Amino acid sequence: MATNKSHLLEDYLDLSADDLDKRIIIAKETMGRRLLILGHHYQQDDVIKFADFRGDSLKLSQEAAKSDREFIVFCGVHFMAETADIITGEHQKVILPDITAGCSMADMANLYKVENAWKDITHIVGEHNILPVTYINSSADLKAFCGRKGGSVCTSSSAERIIRWALGEHGKIFFFPDEHLGRNSAVKMGIPEEEIIVWRRDEPMGGPMGGPMGGNDKEKIKKARIILWDGFCSVHMLFLPKHVEYFRERYPGINVIVHPECRREVVELSDLCGSTEYIINRIKESPAGTAWAIGTEINLVNRLRKEQPDKTIFFLSPTVCLCSTMYRIDPQHLCWALENLVEGTVVNQIIVPEEEKRWARVALERMLAL
Ligand code: 13P
Ligand code: SF4
Repeated sequence: MATNKSHLLEDYLDLSADDLDKRIIIAKETMGRRLLILGHHYQQDDVIKFADFRGDSLKLSQEAAKSDREFIVFCGVHFMAETADIITGEHQKVILPDITAGCSMADMANLYKVENAWKDITHIVGEHNILPVTYINSSADLKAFCGRKGGSVCTSSSAERIIRWALGEHGKIFFFPDEHLGRNSAVKMGIPEEEIIVWRRDEPMGGPMGGPMGGNDKEKIKKARIILWDGFCSVHMLFLPKHVEYFRERYPGINVIVHPECRREVVELSDLCGSTEYIINRIKESPAGTAWAIGTEINLVNRLRKEQPDKTIFFLSPTVCLCSTMYRIDPQHLCWALENLVEGTVVNQIIVPEEEKRWARVALERMLAL
């Protein structure tokens, strides 16, 4: 029975793993069908084991959109919880167990800089000849910007589909914040490298006044079909071509599979490239005895190694590529958030302002419909 008493996070920090497990199970059972726990594939084992549903960004957003549960506890990062808040109903509340679980790539683009870049670009090419597309790893206000301008959101598993659609509509796109996902998707679609340019976010402003436009000149901007923001994922940047070469030399016949947030040179040397869900499915479907070197976050790779013991699975980099912000969601924070819910106290609710929500939903629904 809810008493509206709140629990303090400090009281959870020294609990044993066993106690946390037991208490999470009880809280989950108590909340029953009022609660849905979503878990991204990069979550640590001690957290993802409690997820009702696991997935990549696309699957999780589809699941959130379908759900009518009152509380959605999102074990992932901030932009994922914002996305869930955007596409769920007014009666639903989305909770991020640790409010500091952000995404450093998402933080590399902000509305002020994107709007300024957009003004510069559209001054040269005209608003009707270009569409903005944002990777789902971005703040809600950037999704809203895309919604207002007729553009869309994409995820790592829908990027090609969305880029193809956007190019079909307007012939040119402005893609943010991940340069690498944008380039990898465009090259895979057969777009020549000469038609892809990078907008350097820290170039001094100039634009219509004739200054440096993201490090480009007018001719380049006119010719380009894809203009990429220069954001990146610091986790995936740690995979290098020499790592692929190392495995190829040592283990002839090995399969190399990477996430599209990896740099182009790594993707080019790999056999397969796709979202976290794609990576999991390819490994699961592969015959026993096959060997794999995987270029994505370490929690997912370690889990695959445990779950697929009949395959030889290597982590592609000698460096531990851990998404430290995903890792902030731990059993302590999860237990704290759930036991507060049981008491009728909602902690760390993610609330996207109404106007932003309206337009961000337009961009997200466009992606989900395509
Ligand atoms: P996926 O959508 O492929 O799970 O990717 C999310 C992400 O943040 C990868 O770094
Ligand atoms: Fe962001 Fe990279 Fe972490 Fe994915 S792995 S959530 S892109 S920092």
